[in-house]
Amino acid sequence: MINEKIKEKIVLALDVETLEDAKKLVDELSPHVGTFKVGLQLYSGFGNEIIDYIKSKNSNFFLDIKLMDIPNTVKKASENIVLRGANFYNVHALGGLEMMKQSKEGAYKAAEKAGRKPPLILAVTVLTSISQDVLDNEIKINTNVKELAINLAKLAKLAGLDGVVASVHELKAIKEACGADFKVLCPGIRPLWSLKDDQKRIATPKEAILNGADYIVIGRAVTCAPNKTEAMQKIYDEIGEI
Ligand code: C5P
Repeated sequence: MINEKIKEKIVLALDVETLEDAKKLVDELSPHVGTFKVGLQLYSGFGNEIIDYIKSKNSNFFLDIKLMDIPNTVKKASENIVLRGANFYNVHALGGLEMMKQSKEGAYKAAEKAGRKPPLILAVTVLTSISQDVLDNEIKINTNVKELAINLAKLAKLAGLDGVVASVHELKAIKEACGADFKVLCPGIRPLWSLKDDQKRIATPKEAILNGADYIVIGRAVTCAPNKTEAMQKIYDEIGEI
């Protein structure tokens, strides 16, 4: 029996090269996965096909394409994303308050037009690939990475967005700054038994959930496992009752 409370929190990253591989993951894992995440790689190659496939399985999909452009362009793109049926999507908080507000306006207008529930809109604060050194010496934004991430999370909240994407290590500070209802989706998740790969600041699924993560992104720990269903079941077992 699938624990529905855990399933709702699991977002599977479909980071694969071919449409066939993505479809196989959806086929095999949809009983265990609440939401499938389609990122730039898959979207730029096979966006329409994979979205239709996920929808045909009645699963949720998260379009992880981190919108950032002028407010009007982001508004129009957000409308289309919602008409396409996305249950979640994200924008860069660095695009500013007005851009985020317009994104929400476009998304909600489209949801109303389609007679659908509005999507969850998340903001990306500071990419984890941006270190303090990059901020200081390349981009030359004179602030501390963590402070910047918290300020951008607060800006996303002010714009009326639902939450942010953030590491488990920032989870507490974000919930403190933005409130317990402000959603946090956490990548960098590694079960006890899996490889770290290139992720630096990791946490186990259980730690993430105990610390208040609303959603956890599961990627290579499952997608690269020889037996993917078994790997997913091990994650459920490791999380236990919540
Ligand atoms: O395979 P792995 O579990 O490392 O995959 C993590 C997923 O989360 C990838 O799709 C990656 O792009 C995404 N992500 C991340 N770190 C962020 C934001 C997104 O790893 N800060």
